[in-house]
Amino acid sequence: MKIAVIGTGYVGLVTATCLADSGNDVVGVDKDQAKIATLDSGKLPIYEPGLLELVERNRRDQRLLFTTDLAAGVKGARLVFIAVGTPPDDTGATDLRALWAVADALAPIVSDDVIVITKSTVPVGTNRQFADRLAQKRGKPVDVASNPEFLKEGAAVDDFMKPDRVVVGVRRPEVGEVLRELYAPFLRTEHPFLVMSPESAEMTKYVANAMLATKISFINEMANLCEKLEADVNDVRRGIGHDQRIGFQFLHPGPGYGGSCFPKDTKSLIHQGRRVQVDLALMDAVERVNDRQKKVLPAKVKAHYGPALKGKCLAVWGLAFKPRTDDIREAPSLTLIDDLLAAGVTLRVHDPEALKNVRDIYGDKLTYCDRPYSALEGADGLVIVTEWQEFRHPDFFVMKRLLREPVIFDGRNLFEPKAVRGHGFTYYGIGRVTA
Ligand SMILES: NC(=O)c1ccc[n+]([C@@H]2O[C@H](COP(=O)([O-])OP(=O)(O)OC[C@H]3O[C@@H](n4cnc5c(N)ncnc54)[C@H](O)[C@@H]3O)[C@@H](O)[C@H]2O)c1
Repeated sequence: MKIAVIGTGYVGLVTATCLADSGNDVVGVDKDQAKIATLDSGKLPIYEPGLLELVERNRRDQRLLFTTDLAAGVKGARLVFIAVGTPPDDTGATDLRALWAVADALAPIVSDDVIVITKSTVPVGTNRQFADRLAQKRGKPVDVASNPEFLKEGAAVDDFMKPDRVVVGVRRPEVGEVLRELYAPFLRTEHPFLVMSPESAEMTKYVANAMLATKISFINEMANLCEKLEADVNDVRRGIGHDQRIGFQFLHPGPGYGGSCFPKDTKSLIHQGRRVQVDLALMDAVERVNDRQKKVLPAKVKAHYGPALKGKCLAVWGLAFKPRTDDIREAPSLTLIDDLLAAGVTLRVHDPEALKNVRDIYGDKLTYCDRPYSALEGADGLVIVTEWQEFRHPDFFVMKRLLREPVIFDGRNLFEPKAVRGHGFTYYGIGRVTA
């Protein structure tokens, strides 16, 4: 099948590449010339494990091309996927300008038998508006389906290749059948292909993210209570996780959720509720708890140093909003950096993949370190914000030698408090017994 994917960001690039890998002819279209130039030079504009090899292979076999020319990209395409960004505006509502721009640009160039498929996360009802807009501008309708994406950055290729489920929202069963055929190679292990209305498909994406964000805020709130009541959240987590009705996933306390999805999608859902006079009290709380949680780690730092904080130098390990990505959108590290810079602290930061993105924001306000240990040199303490695998078993002897004061603020509970304290460190976790 000939396919165009509009938007070659975290979702679009993975979608285009994986669809090419299953034998389709795919053109990735992006308006960002620098992105396309990077792709054409054989590099990736983002970091995503396993993606570069897959892009290289499919380009070599000429199943995958990139262009900034939308008309050339969609020419002859049977399927046109849209994966442009849908960020929040100032009110928390979803900014759909990129999506409408694509609708208007597609109208004069798509053929009658094209199927346009929205992968971008969009408010419920957008599918209908998109189809109406396209039909009005063309003078004739085309099929517009909704196909929310559930991939996780850091494991995006695997998630796309082996999805738990594929959800499509269609108005005509025939469109569902075309998409079923497209996804068949990815669903060979009996994982379901779920066909529903576009409205239900759009809603499914928000509900999935709302549930996951709720779990995170829930355990974070419980962790803060544990700390005050001298219970250890890690024991409590294990105590509840074995109950199959609860499980372990997404019940790790931390510095608050970030990323391009949970913050904007919970905000959007609240906004969608307001529009139809449904007060989403739980979602409001989830968001409020998360905003508060992003301040927990900086508060621990401030409480430890007191008035002596000004002029201190701290090391920070982990800046991406989660491991195995370079994405720093809404990352808790940014709140920490802003708070500590404002308090007169100098920062030596390290992240395996996100340094460039952080440098683009902070320039020479931070010291950027290529290695975790070089960040510790001369620092008065270490703050861990993201749980990259390589931070899990550090050499505490080396760390103690490099740091001016042996203190660790561990935002991800990577270490056992007793063991770290045994090495002579002052140790703060999230929801752990403090002494
Ligand atoms: N990132 C994730 O983990 C994830 C997961 C599931 C769903 N989503 C959803 O997928 C969508 C895309 O997210 P992302 O993280 O890939 O965003 P992104 O910002 O990484 O990529 C969006 C791309 O679209 C391009 N673009 C914007 N307007 C365009 C236009 N008119 N023509 C061509 N290209 C255009 C941008 O240049 C950019 O490269 C969002 O709606 C998001 O909510 C994201």
